[in-house]
Amino acid sequence: MSKISLGANPYLYPMPVVIVGAMVDEKPNFITVTYCGIVQHNPPYIAVTLSKPHYTNSGIKKSKSFSVNIPNTRMMRVTDFIGIYSGQKVNKEQLFDIFYGDLGNAPMINEAPVNLECKLVDMLDFNGSCECFIGEIVQTYSEKKYMKKGLLSMPKIDPLVFSIHTNFFFNIGRKIGQGWFSGLRYKNKVKF
Ligand SMILES: Cc1cc2nc3c(=O)[nH]c(=O)nc-3n(C[C@H](O)[C@H](O)[C@H](O)COP(=O)(O)O)c2cc1C
Repeated sequence: MSKISLGANPYLYPMPVVIVGAMVDEKPNFITVTYCGIVQHNPPYIAVTLSKPHYTNSGIKKSKSFSVNIPNTRMMRVTDFIGIYSGQKVNKEQLFDIFYGDLGNAPMINEAPVNLECKLVDMLDFNGSCECFIGEIVQTYSEKKYMKKGLLSMPKIDPLVFSIHTNFFFNIGRKIGQGWFSGLRYKNKVKF
């Protein structure tokens, strides 16, 4: 075996890149997050994991709402910027055209192709460096220009992905198959 051990690390490849929005001290704040994932299909729940000292955390706890905004590759620099500077130092509200949805207190980014509006349903603390916020996605927003035949289109959204070990941003490659279909070719390779 040619495998080498890299230690106990959160090396999930790739990681999504999202911008989480929340009201903090009565103003919209935004934080770049790669520790994010869907944890339930129906009703749809999403988890975002934030380091405990971050400014955004108290706002999510108080407002019980947050947003998950999916930036595209054209937003790479501003996405990185808000991941470098805390809302305690800079007012990040000035960077985006902000809108609100049904909840009224989850700030969302108009420039981001997809926005998930979330109601806080739970918080997890594993007595480590982070706390995990679980939100129910109560509404999803996008625009026709990011859709094809009524469905969200990956090439049109043009999302960012992240490589955690090297800290590089990547874009998404080309379509190579279809879920619940491409794997059917394997049917004749196994015994049922
Ligand atoms: C590419 C990138 C990914 C990041 N991912 C996370 C993450 O998943 N969780 C986290 O707590 N911080 C993450 N950060 C750091 C925060 O975005 C950063 O500390 C931010 O300025 C905190 O904002 P706030 O203090 O206004 O809440 C990331 C930063 C970058 C640049």
